[in-house]
Amino acid sequence: MAEDDLWAGLVDPFADGAYASAKGLVRTYVMHQHLLEHLPPPPATVLDVGGGAGHQSFPLARAGWHVTLLDSSDAMLARARERLGVLPAGARDRVRLLHAEGEHAVEAVAGQQFDAVLCHGVLGYLDDPVAMIEQLCRCVAPGGIVSILTGNARTSAVRPALERRWQDALAAFDDPRELGVLGVPTRGDDVEHLSGLLEAHGVQPVQWYGVWLFTDWLEFSGATVDLEDPHEVAAMAQVELEASRRDPYRQLSRPFHLVGRRPA
Ligand SMILES: C[S@@+](CC[C@H](N)C(=O)[O-])C[C@H]1O[C@@H](n2cnc3c(N)ncnc32)[C@H](O)[C@@H]1O
Repeated sequence: MAEDDLWAGLVDPFADGAYASAKGLVRTYVMHQHLLEHLPPPPATVLDVGGGAGHQSFPLARAGWHVTLLDSSDAMLARARERLGVLPAGARDRVRLLHAEGEHAVEAVAGQQFDAVLCHGVLGYLDDPVAMIEQLCRCVAPGGIVSILTGNARTSAVRPALERRWQDALAAFDDPRELGVLGVPTRGDDVEHLSGLLEAHGVQPVQWYGVWLFTDWLEFSGATVDLEDPHEVAAMAQVELEASRRDPYRQLSRPFHLVGRRPA
């Protein structure tokens, strides 16, 4: 494990903790449904930048897409390798793991261009998204999509307010930085700014969504969803998917999902 692997201590809280929660289930379901609306059909190629333990792209490998998961953390890649081991052989053979910084993705993939480039839950940990976005755009093939999931700077007062940290909430209206749920400093972006960065690199923004809303608010209020009840889980996922697509709900979600396409 690299000594400067900031993510080494976060593998369990993120890969096991966050994804096993109601919000984790919603994130997986809602993001997958959004992607199905835009992805070129399998066996198209997907590059998952900052792909972590593969929660977002392994379901795509199962469904027939060819996935390259690139991550800068040895520890996260080790967890991805472990999770890869329990995928069916066909899906496993469609996944390649790469250790690299997303800011050097073009070099790491030797100039290959992909039908889809994902960057989910990564930009918020960077001081500035510009260099990463430039690389994402250069890695996408004509006709392919760039998919970005990140924190919404416009809703940064939600969490401190729902935690009744009123002074922090007041400050958050004008400051997109916070100590994230994993205990690491994070930074929000806004849809317009990221859309402009995509356009500057030849990728047209096509749609944006919220990700989770009601499950987030329920968690802050201390209410629990019965994850053992498949009917409740399915209904929750459906409601969150609808909310992610509609105003004003999508505007209130703390994360947003932005999809752009490079013209064919
Ligand atoms: C919150 S996790 C998200 C993982 C995955 N994309 C998901 O949505 O499940 C953030 C991941 O980004 C990776 N990461 C952070 N900065 C990175 C960088 N500059 N280049 C590549 N990966 C990075 C971390 O190692 C970690 O695996």
